[in-house]
Amino acid sequence: MTSLEQKRRGGETMIKGLKAALGAAVAGLLAGTALSAAPAYAQDAGDSDLVAKGAYVARLGDCVACHTDLHGKAFAGGLQIKTPIGAIYSTNITPDPKTGIGNYTLEDFDKAIRRGVRKDGASLYPAMPYPSFSRMSDDDIKALYAYFMHGVPAVEQPDKPADISWPLSMRWPLALWGKMFAPAPQAFTPASGTDPVVARGEYLVTGPGHCGACHTPRGFSMQEKSYDATGGADFLAGGAPIDNWIAPSLRSDPVMGLGRWSEDDLVMFLRSGRLDHSAAFGGMADVVAWSTQYWSEDDLRATAKYLKSLPEVPKAKGDYTYDPATAQALDAGKTSGMTGADIYVQQCSICHRNDGGAVDRMFPPLAGNPVVVSDNPTSVAHIVAAGGVLPPTNWGPSAVAMPAYQKVLNDQQIADVVNFIRTSWGNKAPANLTAGDVAKVRGGQAIANVRGWNDAPTKDSTWGVFIPQPYGPGWTFSPATHAGVDNPQ
Ligand code: HEC
Ligand code: HEC
Ligand code: HEC
Repeated sequence: MTSLEQKRRGGETMIKGLKAALGAAVAGLLAGTALSAAPAYAQDAGDSDLVAKGAYVARLGDCVACHTDLHGKAFAGGLQIKTPIGAIYSTNITPDPKTGIGNYTLEDFDKAIRRGVRKDGASLYPAMPYPSFSRMSDDDIKALYAYFMHGVPAVEQPDKPADISWPLSMRWPLALWGKMFAPAPQAFTPASGTDPVVARGEYLVTGPGHCGACHTPRGFSMQEKSYDATGGADFLAGGAPIDNWIAPSLRSDPVMGLGRWSEDDLVMFLRSGRLDHSAAFGGMADVVAWSTQYWSEDDLRATAKYLKSLPEVPKAKGDYTYDPATAQALDAGKTSGMTGADIYVQQCSICHRNDGGAVDRMFPPLAGNPVVVSDNPTSVAHIVAAGGVLPPTNWGPSAVAMPAYQKVLNDQQIADVVNFIRTSWGNKAPANLTAGDVAKVRGGQAIANVRGWNDAPTKDSTWGVFIPQPYGPGWTFSPATHAGVDNPQ
């Protein structure tokens, strides 16, 4: 156990002795912030190796994605996050002493990141993924702190107050939520005998990478049903709509999950956002563009190995087998009786082709694509209505786009073509999208829950009122994807 870890367990009184217990470099850093009103970053350059390591940890945690407003200054906060009870805004985490976190000690910083408690003692909304960050190591927290104090330019920009009115604006229920549902911070310890590479992958996925925040279904109070594989089949089993995008299962299911993906596929997808058989879009486009494309080869490999090492889950829908009948019918122009097929041929075939296949690394296939056959059609309806841009990455610099069809097709036509692709080429999803659903997606609302979400509170349920909910229907992280406005590393 490291010194910081002991302190946290030992309670607040021991924390006062922290400065003495830490190494000279960090103690100097603390003095810089505690004794002077000037921003710490201006005092000295800090330990440059530690700062560089912290910059990398910030990439692992994707801090920039949430803490930067659309076209805003990096880490200065202000990104609007809509919730069913009102909007909240991410905060300024630059080292500006007045409006940012320049006066945070390492201890204050640690409390915010791993326990979700602000310097003034108030609890944070769990939109800040501190339940995952609670697993981060002391070393990574120290490096992050060094980076935010010495590597990030200070920006003076006051935080925006949440647009939530009293009594829902009270923060004490958040503390209660945290106590009930967020894991107490404790050092990440892989099961004994775990391959060190797989253990590193587990640390990345469940800790800084917070993949479960989107990919794990949530329980009745919106807590993630499980923060690691001890939760059984729920863990990373696919989440509810966030921003009207659904994060599919990362488990071994061959139809709904990653069962047909290899380790190399995963590495390439996370690094470049594109594969012969898939393309990142929606929330994942942000994750790739701002975070995973910067992960080291070793860390991507560890993540892939860990995901592939997760225990098998029961196959929800059998196996996927390609069915050539659709392509034959479309090639022969025999589309009568196939609702939506004509729209597909006119609007979609040029890129996604009659065989629902792919143009490698350009246009993703629709045949056998887990996103297309998801039980809840919100995501697929959303991308057809609103379009998408493949995130340009260092590994795949072209920003290939999927057009938005909401001005070209009416709601019924979008429903028809989506139902067509959900049931063609061997895809066996229900053709359950209605024109009414499309109208909802157009209006920014998610389609009613279909799976794994039925036990979630509704807006009017008691829990929903008293326990502010992290993520879920009605939440919006960004009005448009902000991939592409990131400052180059
Ligand atoms: C998914 C979005 C998201 C990510 C990712 C995220 N944060 Fe946050 N963070 C927030 C939000 C929203 C708040 C404000 C919550 C509130 O007001 O209760 C916040 C609050 C904070 C605070 C408290 C700030 C204050 O003004 O007191 C700190 C410090 C912080 N985040 C640091 C980080 C760091 C470092 C990372 C990366 C390791 C990170 N955050 C990643 C959303 C995020
Ligand atoms: C902000 C929410 C969010 C976070 C955080 C997130 N994802 Fe995703 N992910 C999505 C969405 C939405 C999709 C579906 C769109 C797509 O396929 O790109 C997705 C898709 C994927 C896919 C492709 C699955 C398929 O069947 O097409 C993989 C692999 C993946 N994510 C891995 C990860 C990993 C690993 C992490 C953590 C480092 C992560 N994701 C974090 C939202 C998220
Ligand atoms: C100009 C070429 C083009 C046309 C025309 C086109 N798409 Fe796409 N489509 C793309 C690209 C590029 C992506 C990847 C977008 C991204 O990653 O943001 C994509 C992604 C998709 C996806 C998400 C699959 C995944 O794994 O990323 C679906 C579903 C989809 N398109 C359906 C359709 C339908 C239905 C039509 C016709 C109504 C259509 N597309 C027309 C280029 C096109």
